[in-house]
Amino acid sequence: MAYAGVAAEARVDVRSVPLVDLHAQYLSIKAEIDAAIADVIAKSAFIRGPHVEAFEEHFAGAIGAKHCVSCGNGTDALYIAMRALGLQAGDEVITSAHSWIATSETITQAGGKAVFCDTDRDTFTIDVERLAGLVTPRTVGIIPVHMCGQPADMDPILALAKRHGLWVIEDSAQAHLAKYKGRTIGTFGAAATFSFYPGKNLGAFGDAGAIVTNDAALARRMAVFARHGAMNKHDHEIEGINSRLDGLQAAVLDVKLAHLPAWTKIRQSIAAAYGRELASFAEVTTPSTAAGREHVYHLYMIRHDRRDALADHLKARGVHAGVHYPVALPFLRAYAHLGHKPEDFPNAFHNQSRILSLPMYPEMSGAQRAHVVDSIGDFCRRKPR
Ligand SMILES: Cc1ncc(COP(=O)(O)O)c(C=O)c1O
Repeated sequence: MAYAGVAAEARVDVRSVPLVDLHAQYLSIKAEIDAAIADVIAKSAFIRGPHVEAFEEHFAGAIGAKHCVSCGNGTDALYIAMRALGLQAGDEVITSAHSWIATSETITQAGGKAVFCDTDRDTFTIDVERLAGLVTPRTVGIIPVHMCGQPADMDPILALAKRHGLWVIEDSAQAHLAKYKGRTIGTFGAAATFSFYPGKNLGAFGDAGAIVTNDAALARRMAVFARHGAMNKHDHEIEGINSRLDGLQAAVLDVKLAHLPAWTKIRQSIAAAYGRELASFAEVTTPSTAAGREHVYHLYMIRHDRRDALADHLKARGVHAGVHYPVALPFLRAYAHLGHKPEDFPNAFHNQSRILSLPMYPEMSGAQRAHVVDSIGDFCRRKPR
């Protein structure tokens, strides 16, 4: 399949490389997207309806899960899953120290207490060596994050959860179709949450999210909670919230879902090319993928000791890199009351000032990638041969 970003290489200004290019992606599938949106409008199927139902079924199928409960965004997905799992005030949930704040703020909002676990220095996923030491009699669950698109090390996490009777929610916001030991992430824990924020590997044209699970009773509780506590109009079983995927977003996502396997392969080949091309620069650490894990490169995160200077240098050359995330969760002002110190999370602290996400999107041309690599090359020493 020819994608417009690749075909239109000649038109693209290779000296300006965004972090992601949503417009290029839209152009590559414009006819399909426009037809899908027109169909929602023609049917006035704005809330629930056939497009939402179709997407839920197709997304569950893509993950290999029995149920998909769509919702407003990936943050709500976490909140809904925790409420449906019965989180009680004061319950502790262990999660990654280096993630987006949605992962931890939803624990607090669901009534629990977020307990941070350091990340592995090289994979940026939760450090399984430190997990057991954080379990207390109040711990009820673990939320590993499949960070950047690389699965967390699920086997030891699940073994620990089983030993202590804890649930596991996989925060899969960055990892659509990633695999752990050959199996697509999303069905390792009790539930897995996804974000379809526009820049994600599977992105809507606005906010959108979903939760998948193999547990029919849990799926029902989540759906009820997300829909004002009612599966049927005016029959409110409980008080819930309003968190719905709308028909327009579902239609867009359903079109894009069909392209996701091909886009994922392109991301992986761009990552492989970056890896080869950046290998000669002494000061750059390219991302490492642990054995048995298939990375889908939502983010291509390198490390450099002079990250900010490198980012400024790239920006001056039209290369827009990002930082995900510049302050690890325990060090945010929002968590200052917990009194955490850098030595409590040495890897997250080490990484937060060094990580840099390079442009990464399936429509990126070879010439654009070459410009990113050359621009990094201007800044870095080469390794002696
Ligand atoms: C790891 C992680 N969890 C949760 C979320 C929340 O998703 P959303 O922005 O759709 O609410 C994000 C989104 O950036 C994320 O990266």
